[in-house]
Parts: sequence; structure tokens; C-alpha cells
Amino acid sequence: MRNTTQLQWGVTIAAAQTEGAHDQGGKGASIWDTFTTNPRVIKDRSNAQVATDFYHRYQEDIDLAVTIGLKIFRFSVAWSRILPTGTGAVNPEGIAFYNRVIDYCLSVGITPWITTYHWDLPQALQDIGGWRNRAVVTHYQTYITILRTHFADRVKNWILVNEAIVCIGAGYFLGIHAPGKRGITNFSASIHHLLLAQAKGFKILKAVEGLTVGTAISCTKIDAYRDNSRDQKAVKRMDALMNRLCIEPYLGMGYPSEIPTITRHIQKFVKEGDLEEMQIDFDFWGIQTYAREVVKSAWYVPYLGVMTVPPRKRNVAVSVMGWETYPQGTRYFAERFAAYDPDKPLWLSECGMALAEDEDDQLRVNYYQQVLAEAEKILEKGIKLQGILLWTLVDNFEWAEGYIPKFGIISLNQKTLERKMKKTAYWLKNYLAATNN
Ligand code: BGC
Repeated sequence: MRNTTQLQWGVTIAAAQTEGAHDQGGKGASIWDTFTTNPRVIKDRSNAQVATDFYHRYQEDIDLAVTIGLKIFRFSVAWSRILPTGTGAVNPEGIAFYNRVIDYCLSVGITPWITTYHWDLPQALQDIGGWRNRAVVTHYQTYITILRTHFADRVKNWILVNEAIVCIGAGYFLGIHAPGKRGITNFSASIHHLLLAQAKGFKILKAVEGLTVGTAISCTKIDAYRDNSRDQKAVKRMDALMNRLCIEPYLGMGYPSEIPTITRHIQKFVKEGDLEEMQIDFDFWGIQTYAREVVKSAWYVPYLGVMTVPPRKRNVAVSVMGWETYPQGTRYFAERFAAYDPDKPLWLSECGMALAEDEDDQLRVNYYQQVLAEAEKILEKGIKLQGILLWTLVDNFEWAEGYIPKFGIISLNQKTLERKMKKTAYWLKNYLAATNN
């Protein structure tokens, strides 16, 4: 039986949250560049024009990851750095930048992983409707083919889409993330197109021998507020939306029937052959879980009939994100994925906790220790968990929350951009050195 000392440890970062250099190196605007031109949409009225300046400081960050003992460096590619207008001419400076990142990783002995889409659609594609427009699926295929041509010789591990449900839910239904669109039609079209694009992207990458290609799924444990059947049913609906919608079409199960109003809307955008085309066999599932939600039945809430009961109303402690931190979710979801297919490798492709500026980093150490305890139980059950990627290396631009939540194991001085290892980084460094993994 494997144990936790055999887990591989790494870190995940995302282009729009770290790179900065928003208009340098030939990069085109992304939807996040546009969205943040309205400062009121971001809690601290900030933007990601500089972010952590990873574009210029990637060597320092990769060095820090190596110093801590991490073995995997997962980063995302900004589509508009490769194709400034989303399609058409390739930007050689963008290719050169990611080549520098990849080559530097390899030269210092850390394995680069690429995420192809972590929410920063080129603005030029949003101008034609974004994910709502099926034409973007074809543009994504072109983009993936370019990434394959330039990077697949050295990058063997790929994650196609990061958390489709959060990206489309927040960006095309709630309007709280870029591109700030709302409503069921925007949501339904966009989610189907993004999931379809991912299936097509998978096939493009798998045409190269030796690539390991997976996806990263947002997983939120849902529990009932009251012990009655109406709330239990509400749990089923919320769970279908949050935790199954972006998985089951790939397993040949279609969109979940428990949320008929939503799936009816989605069906309007499903063309003949789409669901067959979406049946792909990912090489692994990436689990990303942070929080738990408690819900109750609410007939007046459109489409779902579900209302969340905020942690504060339940007298539960919350993180600076307003979330009920829930490390137990890792085992709960590992078991659910294993129930789909016990042989499929799993990764915790993101896991982390946000603290406020003045909170003691020991809380994060405690959190990771709990995750490790969960991982041990996961492995005891014979579930094929391969490793843990932390969210995240350096405190960064946390989307609509700006720079307020600190998810990094390394702090960032926003004025000088100086990095400093926090308690968690030291704890992990010692742990990894002691266990040799
Ligand atoms: C996302 C990250 C985000 C993190 C914390 C994940 O859902 O992939 O981009 O920063 O959660 O909110």
C-alpha cells in the first residue's frame, strides 16, 4: 500500500493572477484586463496589471519552489499572450516567454505542467460573444494545436480547463467575474461550449504519444441545513450543478437529470454528436476543493430552488474568503471519483487556504496537516491519489477579491514585489526534506 511519503508535491499558479506585464511582450488584452478597468468590480479596487510580476520574476519563483522541495510547477498559459487576438497570428514573444519558463523549470529539476485555460479568454474572442459563441470552440482547438506544437516536446503533463463551473458560473451567470455576463442563456451556452472545447482539446493533445492529460474540477461539499427531505433534495440539485455537471458528460452519462430546468436550457446548445464527442477518457481527474456549503430548499430561487445558508448564519468560522474551510472535502471527493472509476489516477491539483494579512500563518500549516491526514486515509483505502499541488506559491490577485485574501505560502510586498517565505513554506520544506518526497 502506498503512503503519504510517496505523494508528489507541487504548486499551481495562474497567468491572470500572477504574470502582470499585461500589455508587454506583444500580449493582447484578456477579459480580465477589460473587466478590471472598472475598479468597482474588485473588492480593493485593484487590478492585475502587475500582479506578482511573474512575467519578469519567474526564475525567482521557480527557485523558491525548488528551495522548498516542490517537484511540480503547474502554471497556466495566457491565450492572449500566444494569440493576441484569440486567433490568427501567433505572437513569437509569447511563445518565447513560456519556453523560458519551461526550460528554466527543467534546468533546475522541477517538472512543468501546463494549464491551457485558467479563465483569461482573449478579449477579442469575447467581442464575438466569448464562450457563448460556439465559434470559440474552434478557436480553442487552434490555440491547443499551437501549444502542442511548441511545448509538448518538453511538457508531458497537461490540464486543459481549470474549474469550468466556477469560470462559467461566476463569469457568465452571476457576472461577478470577467466577462461580467449574467443569466441562464449565457450560462447554458457557455458551459456546454467550454466542456465541448475541452473534449476536442483533449483529443488534440492525446495525438502526441506520451502526454498525460487531465482536467481540474471544482469540488464543493454540499450538506443540508435541515434534516428534512426538501433540503435533502436541494442538496442533490446543488450537488448536481456544482459537482457533476462538468464530469458526467465525459463519462457518457450526459448532463445530470436532477436539474432538469438547467439541462433543458443547456440542451438548446447541444448539437447532434456533441455528447458522443464528449466521451473521453481523461488520464486523471484533478480535485480542487476548498469549502463546504450548507443549503436549504427555496422554491423562489429560479432554476435550482436552492439557497445557501452562509457560514456566519450557522455560527461557523470563516476564512477571509467568507468560506467554511473544509479539508475533509479532499477525502470525500477522492472517494466519489474512485466510485466513478477506481483505477483512474487522482491529483489534488489545487488545495489551499486564504488568510487575512494579519492572521498567523500557523493556521495554514494546520490546514495542510489536516489535508495530509486526509490524504493518508485516501491512500489507506487504496485510492490512486498521486500528489498534492498547493494553491499557491506567492500571494496573488484573487480575482474579484483583489489582493485581500492571501493564499500564498510566500508573501508578496506589493510595493517592492519582494517575496518572503511564510511559516507554511518552512514547515513544508522541513516535511519534504524529512520524508524525501
Ligand atoms: C481557482 C484559483 C483561485 C482559488 C481560490 C480556485 O478555484 O482555480 O484561481 O484563486 O480557487 O479562490
